[in-house]
Amino acid sequence: MFNVNITIEEIILVPCSELGGNNRREILKLREQVTNKFKKEGLKKIQEEEHYIWLDSPIDGPNSLHSTFSKLTNTRSLRKFIEKKMYPNRGIVAIEFGGVGRSLFKGFSQGFIEKSAAITLFDHDLEGSKMPMPHQHLLIEDDLFNPSTYQSINTWLTGRKVDLILERMGRGLELVPPEPYTVSSILRNWYRLLSDNGLMIVQSPMKLNPLFSRWCSMIERNYLDVFDFKYQIGHSDGNFEIGFSCFYLQKKPGAPKELPVLTPKEIQNVLLVL
Ligand SMILES: C[S@@+](CC[C@H](N)C(=O)[O-])C[C@H]1O[C@@H](n2cnc3c(N)ncnc32)[C@H](O)[C@@H]1O
Repeated sequence: MFNVNITIEEIILVPCSELGGNNRREILKLREQVTNKFKKEGLKKIQEEEHYIWLDSPIDGPNSLHSTFSKLTNTRSLRKFIEKKMYPNRGIVAIEFGGVGRSLFKGFSQGFIEKSAAITLFDHDLEGSKMPMPHQHLLIEDDLFNPSTYQSINTWLTGRKVDLILERMGRGLELVPPEPYTVSSILRNWYRLLSDNGLMIVQSPMKLNPLFSRWCSMIERNYLDVFDFKYQIGHSDGNFEIGFSCFYLQKKPGAPKELPVLTPKEIQNVLLVL
């Protein structure tokens, strides 16, 4: 059982092996408290302490999302990789989770994106917010673990599906709870949002590596006929030299309605051997 006075640093360091039972509820409650505090103080921390280095990063170029996913996608341009994968789709709907998405979505070919949204705890790109976007762009300032975020997304979608989901949170992954059921339910939400040909490219927190790698092996073993799927295991959330844990998944015809996830028994088996 944890001490309830645990800090965010301690939450981040909770080893997977200590998860489960009552700890889950404590971890989630504490995460929510720390996240709400960060929502209020984060802008100051970013401006005065450079809490985040990546802020409104572009799709390609230095510090871009491409630099995080380049080994995974094995291309020189993430924009080209995505546009090729989505071909012949144009006028797509795109979402960035964990970011403001302005530079990111401006970097695609003209007309490729019809509308985009980005989910961030708060707008940390105050200058950028004044710059016009080439298409409709909505900023949702909410916690991606809150159901209210998904209500806002669904209202904005007006019945459409999402063709592209990007998430490269870097140090922002510190606020992801080391709690497998919550994380997999978020991934399931994202998958449900995706259109038939939809593509998600996602960075996974390093602290969840044991479960992430088990889940990836399960997908690779059983679903490559219905998903275009690739993953890599890294050992850092923010260091290009060390590398990142991440995956991409694109639905193919016959893809299941729900994202396959590990069963509670499989999760327990992973936790037991840690
Ligand atoms: C290091 S910045 C990365 C921003 C952008 N993805 C990029 O690559 O430039 C981390 C981002 O994650 C967001 N973030 C962290 N925890 C979040 C949460 N629980 N819900 C929504 N956004 C979150 C922050 O608001 C911030 O935009």
